[in-house]
Amino acid sequence: MNWSDTFVELNKAIHDRVSFDCGEEALNTFLHTQAAKHMEVGVSRTMLLPASAPLPDGKYPICAFYTIAPSTINRETLPEALAKKRPHYPVPVFLLAQLAVHSEYQNRGLGKITLIKALEYLLDVNAHMRAYAIIVDCLNEDAEQFYSKYGFEELCKYNGRTRMFIPMKTVAQLFS
Ligand SMILES: CC(C)(COP(=O)(O)OP(=O)(O)OC[C@H]1O[C@@H](n2cnc3c(N)ncnc32)[C@H](O)[C@@H]1OP(=O)(O)O)[C@@H](O)C(=O)NCCC(=O)NCCS
Repeated sequence: MNWSDTFVELNKAIHDRVSFDCGEEALNTFLHTQAAKHMEVGVSRTMLLPASAPLPDGKYPICAFYTIAPSTINRETLPEALAKKRPHYPVPVFLLAQLAVHSEYQNRGLGKITLIKALEYLLDVNAHMRAYAIIVDCLNEDAEQFYSKYGFEELCKYNGRTRMFIPMKTVAQLFS
């Protein structure tokens, strides 16, 4: 099955959450049980790429998704040269909270496409409400390698994970 050509907001009436499997239980569980609830209560937004054709029950399988939310970091976590110019109160950032591709569609460039779409979306938000950077808390070393390919740099350790970041200025340059 092919993927469709547009990322859309998760809609549990239309999208088949339970068939999504990226090989990482934490990410599967998030999409199966939490993503829609988090949108309902207003703490994050999940965008996804549906398959081009529905299942017999009329719902569309999910090929890839990303979840974003507003967040903050303390300037002390930034490298010294960058910290100098930031305020002493919490610095606003965008959190790329989740990003995954269904195992069936991995290694075909969809992870790259999904990340580019997430960055593009956040750049658009940034035009209306500024944030300093995008941060991501990496699940494992593979994820760190994946994000470092696209310009993310290590920021600090957070809850046992490596937190990486990319300044919005750098994201803007990528799309200029
Ligand atoms: C990580 C993930 C999103 C990559 O998706 P994908 O569709 O397989 O990736 P792509 O085919 O677009 O590959 C893009 C690039 O990343 C590299 N890459 C892909 N998976 C990688 C991995 N696990 N580790 C390191 N690099 C990886 C590819 O080699 C490719 O590089 P290239 O363009 O130089 O060849 C996908 O494997 C996934 O969903 N994994 C489980 C969930 C996860 O770990 N998400 C990270 C969130 S913390």
